[in-house]
Amino acid sequence: YPHIYYQNGILEIEGVKAEKLAEEFGTPLYVYSRKALEYWFSEFDGAFKELPHITCFAVKSCSNVHVLKVLKELGAGADTVSVGEIFRALNAGIDPKKIVFAGVGKRPDEIEYALEKGILMFNVESESELYTINRVAENLGKVAPIAFRVNPEVDPKTHPYISTGLKESKFGVTLEEAVDLYRKARELKWLNPIGIHFHIGSQITEPSVFKEAAVKVANLVKELHSLGIEIEFFDAGGGLGINYNPAEPPIPATELAKQIVPIVKELGCKLILEPGRRISGNAGVLLTRIIYKKERENKLFYIVDAGMNDLARPSLYGAYHHIIPATLKVSPTKTADVVGPICETGDILAKDRELPLLEEGEIIAILSAGAYGFTMASNYNSRPRPAEVLVENGKPRLIRQRETLADLIAREF
Ligand code: LLP
Repeated sequence: YPHIYYQNGILEIEGVKAEKLAEEFGTPLYVYSRKALEYWFSEFDGAFKELPHITCFAVKSCSNVHVLKVLKELGAGADTVSVGEIFRALNAGIDPKKIVFAGVGKRPDEIEYALEKGILMFNVESESELYTINRVAENLGKVAPIAFRVNPEVDPKTHPYISTGLKESKFGVTLEEAVDLYRKARELKWLNPIGIHFHIGSQITEPSVFKEAAVKVANLVKELHSLGIEIEFFDAGGGLGINYNPAEPPIPATELAKQIVPIVKELGCKLILEPGRRISGNAGVLLTRIIYKKERENKLFYIVDAGMNDLARPSLYGAYHHIIPATLKVSPTKTADVVGPICETGDILAKDRELPLLEEGEIIAILSAGAYGFTMASNYNSRPRPAEVLVENGKPRLIRQRETLADLIAREF
């Protein structure tokens, strides 16, 4: 991966040795590379340069305010799903006019907050929400810009837990309902329908599904235009997959652009994109130390100091995360499970993995952990959450302190 590789057999993150980072900041430790964030942002954003567009980073994938600041400097907007995420984005200095707000269950107080801050648009997911936004907007005396999140009923061919555009999913409104809803929105005094939104799923590796969805949504936009409802923003969501194995090449973002740009160009809309994983995923790693080695008849366990509370993806989705030692090994490999210290059988980071022989005390890196890593971490088993470090120009900077024992009970008064 760019900026995360071996240098003379020693793993480095933007020029800083993984071992040294583990030593200085402790483990488990999330480490991000600024250059890698810049690389992945530019690779993505650059693919859409021929169209007026906003790349709204999906804050849920990696929400540290210092990471958001890096992306803000590159011109990113933010895709948010809660007041908390809007708060983070604003704190990072992201222009409210580049913030979109999705989510099936927006509360009135969240809507009020977003409206006060003057975000670009609400991605509305139901008729009831429409009336709630109208009411809140009326109380504030401020018109709410909206888009409907439509569900194009396209199979993104990814994990069922992260497929969001299927007929049976809870997200968005159906294509059939949409025209009628836009008509209703137009009649409501405190709403201004300015966009349309869809997001069909995450970790998508088959670019043609984006086109399939975009064509369906574009047909709807044409119908809306014929009714005099001007759609200015075409929000195509996020979901472009990454390579979780460094040996496999990533799908170029230009492949995604090829699928949607011509369609949006023809409509004359501005394009909004909401990539999360694609930008942060391979810009971060989780460093962890092997605490114990345990050997059974035909089973080898590496018990490490990161658990499913620190990185939930393998146990939650059966996700594959490539694991490499901080010091390159030429020893023969052996099949092993890499497991955490949590009292659950499912606390697995890698199952039946071919790994070089590793020793107790060694540091290993769990790759592609920049997205949905720290943001999904919890305090389960009363484990303080890990620290986060950002390497910038070859210098590490602590961007989130490791939680302490006192933090665990700080709110239990
Ligand atoms: N936009 C919307 C409306 C979303 O719901 C999501 C992700 C994104 C954008 C960003 O998707 P991305 O570009 O990152 O694929 N925790 C799961 C992923 C959940 C994704 C939820 N929505 C995982 O670890 O794989």
